[in-house]
Amino acid sequence: MKAKKSILRITKILFSTALAIVFALSIFGCVEKNIRRYADAKKLDFGVAVRPSDMLYPERAELLADHFNILVAENTMKMQYLRPNPTFWNWSDIDQLINFAEEHKMKIKGHTFIWHSQNSGFVSSLNTREDALKVLRETITETLTRYKGRIAEYDICNEIFEENGTLRDSVWMRTIGPEYVDIAFQTAREADPSVKLLLNDYNNEYAGTAKADAFYNLVKSMVERGIPIDGVGFQMHMIAKDPIKEAALIANIRRFNDLGLTVSFTEVDVRIQMPVTPEKEAEQEAAYKTLLRIAMEEPNVKSFILWGYTDLQSWIPATFGGYGSAHLFDDKFQPKPLYYTLMDMIKAK
Ligand code: G3I
Repeated sequence: MKAKKSILRITKILFSTALAIVFALSIFGCVEKNIRRYADAKKLDFGVAVRPSDMLYPERAELLADHFNILVAENTMKMQYLRPNPTFWNWSDIDQLINFAEEHKMKIKGHTFIWHSQNSGFVSSLNTREDALKVLRETITETLTRYKGRIAEYDICNEIFEENGTLRDSVWMRTIGPEYVDIAFQTAREADPSVKLLLNDYNNEYAGTAKADAFYNLVKSMVERGIPIDGVGFQMHMIAKDPIKEAALIANIRRFNDLGLTVSFTEVDVRIQMPVTPEKEAEQEAAYKTLLRIAMEEPNVKSFILWGYTDLQSWIPATFGGYGSAHLFDDKFQPKPLYYTLMDMIKAK
């Protein structure tokens, strides 16, 4: 009888110990899979561009909330979608995104109003300075006022330079002239004095190129002239086989620091020329690691935002034929080894 009781007791103890171990492992496993936990702890904005449909599939929504702490609309806030005609404002997708972000304690980055691309028809056909100024001011003021306190930062103007460093032709340039940039930033500051205002571009990350230097010179002159600007965005759409030019990138980041401005890596992806091979993946990993290391080491770099998370809905194959596999999750929404490499870096920092 006694022996039976002690066997029962030992079995109970063993069973509860096993349960406790399974429970601990499951929590530990969860934590280990979740890059966001470490990004939050390091106060790094680690984010991603999303589409409205992402929030409609529970498994995608859960993935986003688990892994990222800042979201940006890949397309929804662009003129084409936000304001398809002068009197209709399409707020619903942005509201949905912001509600989702708030529910999951994530930040939101706004992208982007004043751009040469993805404009609605009525914007593209603006042809007087007066009409263009009205649309520019109305759009910025309406949006920043509506989302005051709920959106952390905006790309106010996007891709305003050509590769040779001249200002790009656009409807804003043709109708208003180069001062449209100052006016856009001033309008934004008046609408929301506390939101961060960024100028965003691509191929602007390496000091010493015509475009990056023109970009820097304009921003410097804005600061000197008292035009409100808080930071700059380097998009960082990179190619796996091109090693990151660390010295030129760091020199560029630091000269913005000297102006008192932050730098955000706003649209990071590293594309591979298909087919994928282990060698190409190693090059891609090296590029991602260098970017993340620099982002974590330079004190004025505040965010590392990916332009998409899954290869399933990547913008890359449609734009760069023959390229792909640029993101951290595969087309089945599974994290790639690259994901864990970056997570370990954030955890170790
Ligand atoms: O919405 C239509 C859909 O109705 C239609 O069936 C479909 C057929 O092609 O097209 C859909 O529109 C596409 C839209 O994305 C939404 O998915 C456009 O064709 C396509 O051109 C558009 O591409 C976007 C691109 O900006 C436009 O320039 C990409 O998704 C978006 O990732 C990309 O994002 C830009 C950043 O804003 C600025 N920096 C560069 C970056 C990459 O190009």
